[in-house]
Amino acid sequence: MNILIIGSGGREHALAWKIAQSHHCDALFIAPGNPGTASIGTNLAIQINDFASLKNKVLENAIDMIVVGPEDPLVNGIYDYFANNEQTKHVNVIGPSAQAAQLEGSKAYSKHFMQRHHIPTASYAEFTISNYQEGVEYIKAHALPIVLKADGLAAGKGVIIAFTHQEALTSFEEMIQNKQFGEASAKVVIEQFLQGIEVSVFALTDGVSYQIIGHAKDYKRIGEGDTGLNTGGMGCVSPVPFMDQVFMQKVEDRIIKPTIHGIQSENLVYKGFVFFGLMNCGGEPYVIEYNCRLGDPETEVILPRLQTDLVSLLAATDNGTLADVNIEYQDAFFATVMAVSGGYPGDYKKGFPIHGLNQAATIPDALVFQAGTGFKENEIVTNGGRVLTTTAQGTSLQNAVNTAQKALANIQFEGMYFRKDIGYEFK
Ligand code: AMP
Ligand code: GLY
Repeated sequence: MNILIIGSGGREHALAWKIAQSHHCDALFIAPGNPGTASIGTNLAIQINDFASLKNKVLENAIDMIVVGPEDPLVNGIYDYFANNEQTKHVNVIGPSAQAAQLEGSKAYSKHFMQRHHIPTASYAEFTISNYQEGVEYIKAHALPIVLKADGLAAGKGVIIAFTHQEALTSFEEMIQNKQFGEASAKVVIEQFLQGIEVSVFALTDGVSYQIIGHAKDYKRIGEGDTGLNTGGMGCVSPVPFMDQVFMQKVEDRIIKPTIHGIQSENLVYKGFVFFGLMNCGGEPYVIEYNCRLGDPETEVILPRLQTDLVSLLAATDNGTLADVNIEYQDAFFATVMAVSGGYPGDYKKGFPIHGLNQAATIPDALVFQAGTGFKENEIVTNGGRVLTTTAQGTSLQNAVNTAQKALANIQFEGMYFRKDIGYEFK
């Protein structure tokens, strides 16, 4: 099978690493990829939303399967683009249709969906310019803290947790009146704050059946002890000790089954990953959000932990055999630690040479996944906020974290920063 991965982050490097291990994979392409993926397959210099150029390469290289990493092309209809074209309809695109991708693309859509299917989530209301004043009154009467969410995609920046009514009112005005996030904040969802521990669960579905393929805890804040600004994710651990059988059974019965059933009963076309962003509130799971893709850096721990052949698993979404697949995990703990550019998640500089990648790769039980990296005159340089991550396995979470840090200790670039406390609660 010839396979194309779309994206250029650590998630896509991990996908490439896992897919390349499958004997079903004949040729692997990544668009646009990064220097890490270039060491595994062939990078194609095509942007993720340039469907016409992607189609040309798909035909030229007889691609059978497209694995879509990020949400943007999914929300923009990459699934439908290939499915509705005579020349490409045979290609198995792993990802939901544009309509089903609204589960991630619109907070209001996903809240309605959860309400229709009785899936536990924070209570909420939604507002636009037409009922703005009602929103102001709603905020004034709301318990603190208050969560405000831009309805559409806002590159992970559209959620504000306000600790005073004034702060909430200011954000509300910014989003709706001043179009802080453009069209994405023309509608705002205001919801109850959920107190708990955030965790991620991943499933693969064909729209009828599903398989759980892993779970993780992501460390989202920039600072140690979970302080400072939110980031895309600074590290992950998997499996998570408190996500035991009792908790996972609740997740499956109350959240995953009704979600997949809802997808089926609403005739949503969905062949791909479902990322359940959950809050564990005293042992009870609530949905914070759906994503229609894998997480980053969650992928960098769940794929190394997954023993099952990923290509067979993905192929099963297309031939009705997903329910029969046997999911197996490595009998070990996994951790990943993300190295970021100085200043991230605020402004940062790019283009600094990265040293020590080869030495890091020699550490036993460790892997390096590149994210925001690029080539400059044959040298690998920083090219983003989250630059690279080291994943390790161990006999305990702490052991895995220590090995990931040991691998990272070989790597240097100007301004490099990483959290030294990933997995701190599980010591
Ligand atoms: P989202 O884009 O919906 O994932 O929100 C971004 C982050 O805001 C989440 O990862 C949570 O850390 C936090 N968050 C979102 N909704 C809530 C909520 N209802 N209660 C508490 N925290 C939340
Ligand atoms: N790590 C969170 C995400 O991928 O959205």
